[in-house]
Amino acid sequence: MTTFKEKFKKKIELLSWTSDEKQQNANSCYEIMIHKLCNEKCLFCSQDHERRSSAIRPSDADIFHRILLWKKQWYWMLWFTWGEPLIHPNILKYVKFASKIWFNLIRVQTNGVMLWYPWFAKKCIDAGVTYFKISVHHYKSEIHDYLVWLPWALNNVLKWIEEIQKYWWRIWINIVLTKQNYKDLVDFFNFFFNKWITDYVMIFPLYEWSMYEQADIVGLKYSDAIPEIIKVLKIFDKAWLKRPLVLNIPLCMMPWYETAIIQTFNWTAVLNLDWTKSNIDENKDVWKKRIKHCSTCKYNKICFGIDKTYCKLFWLDEFECLPTQTELNYIYNKFNDFTLKKSFFTEDEKCILELFKKKNPLTVNDIITLKDDIQICKDCDSLNKIISTMEILVKKWLVNKQLVNWKIIFIKN
Ligand SMILES: C[S@@+](CC[C@H](N)C(=O)[O-])C[C@H]1O[C@@H](n2cnc3c(N)ncnc32)[C@H](O)[C@@H]1O
Ligand code: SF4
Repeated sequence: MTTFKEKFKKKIELLSWTSDEKQQNANSCYEIMIHKLCNEKCLFCSQDHERRSSAIRPSDADIFHRILLWKKQWYWMLWFTWGEPLIHPNILKYVKFASKIWFNLIRVQTNGVMLWYPWFAKKCIDAGVTYFKISVHHYKSEIHDYLVWLPWALNNVLKWIEEIQKYWWRIWINIVLTKQNYKDLVDFFNFFFNKWITDYVMIFPLYEWSMYEQADIVGLKYSDAIPEIIKVLKIFDKAWLKRPLVLNIPLCMMPWYETAIIQTFNWTAVLNLDWTKSNIDENKDVWKKRIKHCSTCKYNKICFGIDKTYCKLFWLDEFECLPTQTELNYIYNKFNDFTLKKSFFTEDEKCILELFKKKNPLTVNDIITLKDDIQICKDCDSLNKIISTMEILVKKWLVNKQLVNWKIIFIKN
């Protein structure tokens, strides 16, 4: 029997948007900090060691109350982040609660260590985690484990990734760029493509707390990272995959490629442990600085600016001689030192390919009706998205599009 929740979902789905589209609206996403404890000691962490071992945490009643309150304010995404959420003894309770009151998307940001207990993966999924964002900083144990300062860390994370994939659950990977990994990005992505992961965020580090203290060991400059980032974009373009998101690079540093950089968070509210609420956009200037060059820069109104601490650590000569579009294009076009031996698919494409196993040919209507059984992407409530995914599969020569009786049908080749 169809439940009320399902009926309600069906009713709104034709009007609904993808999470990317919805994120442009206010009151979209709440990021909750449930404690500061962590089981790793990443050299680059933007928290300090003292804060990472502080046991302060709000009561369960407080957390439930807040989650309910945000739901009433129409927030629809809940992110558990900061410290290591999965070592909180009550995390599953909070996720279950949020899922019961219909938060559409519940994301857990994790270092993945706790998850090496296979049963824990399943418990998180059953509780209602929609997808996991896992931080991985190298594909070689000796470097990842060194950066996170924990032996066996990568081994455990990789086991965990395999475990989640058994349930076809969605995974994103965050990589923080450091001196030890930025030159190996191409191999890093090749490694994880082969594990069928296609969603990534490349994070240029914020020089705060540990990262600031350890800058001479792990720090790098914008100009070190950018050529490597451009090469990564080329690989994704060549593989017909959605480019990874890039965080914390000033827009003027990547002319022509600036759309890869996340520029606004106006949909994200953050709840801090002391119950102060902040909005990432409103606070964006607190840690940032405008330099002389910014006043004449075309991005001045939308750019976050440059980290104050970055300015303290590195001489700002990089801004006196910015990379030009021609230089970056040269790197992009020249970079061909990689071969893609197979085709890779985004989570959206994987969903559609699975649907073809149920029915071939498919119409958009079929997809809307059948998708709930699969939804690897957890996000295909939008007609726009279904059609654009189909268009890519057509371009990849996997699907044929035909007009039959004034209806578009898609046929898997
Ligand atoms: C602070 S962590 C908290 C969640 C969890 N412990 C983890 O590591 O994924 C949130 C994200 O910020 C990233 N991060 C850590 N230090 C950073 C820094 N200095 N600058 C930018 N991002 C950083 C982490 O890699 C992770 O992807
Ligand atoms: S980045 Fe995450 S895992 Fe690493 S020390 Fe910071 S909070 Fe812990």
